[in-house]
Amino acid sequence: MNNFKIIFTDFSTTYIQNADENERQNYLLKYDHSLRVLENCQGICTSLNLNKNLTSTANIAALFHDTGRFPQYLKYKTFKDANSCNHAILGVKYILRKKLLANLPKSQLRTILGSVALHNRNKLPENLPEHLKITTKIVRDSDKIDIMGILLSHMKNVATSNSVPLMDLKEIPEKLTESILLSLEECKQASYQEMQCLNDFRMLLLSWAYDLNFKWSKKQMINRGFVETLFYGLPKTPRVEKLYLPIMNQLKS
Ligand SMILES: [Fe+2]
Repeated sequence: MNNFKIIFTDFSTTYIQNADENERQNYLLKYDHSLRVLENCQGICTSLNLNKNLTSTANIAALFHDTGRFPQYLKYKTFKDANSCNHAILGVKYILRKKLLANLPKSQLRTILGSVALHNRNKLPENLPEHLKITTKIVRDSDKIDIMGILLSHMKNVATSNSVPLMDLKEIPEKLTESILLSLEECKQASYQEMQCLNDFRMLLLSWAYDLNFKWSKKQMINRGFVETLFYGLPKTPRVEKLYLPIMNQLKS
């Protein structure tokens, strides 16, 4: 993986070096995130006892999944896709345009680009080729587990925290958006577009329990304390408290 780490580092360094102090931390956030997503991916591949080829395809896809974040932030100064562009598709364009993975066999490159393109979809299309389906699911789980950690650390100190990762959402202590609460009650993944405040973001992260694919990632969501911390941040209403058991059952399944 070392040569791919060098390629990815070279690519992102151009953005990091040319940024001002404020912007640099946002690029660095995505750079560090990418490396941790790779680590998570390695954890999942080992837990699945995946073969060498598929492991390396998943690892490269994990490392490059957010390539599009760099040109996205350069142009739009935001990580909100709704206000800018689809960063997954932009990532595919940049991997090709900058020939970042030009030396890989065509079929492996196709799977990697597919996983990058699909990593942020709300729902995966049916009937994906088997290799693409598994690498994409691995990247999505690896990504979600790391994002939860990043967002929870930012939510601890909203007042002093960088507002970009939290998508400029504000802390409104008792507010919960009904449609997001309903998604959770229906054991479904909530959608980004519906979020109006940080409690919604907490509920959205909890709803990811229903979209995790592998035992390894489900276990991480519990073991890293994400479930407890997310509930701790939410208002203690009966509807919120009722969500806890189904989520834990899902994560232990
Ligand atoms: Fe992403």
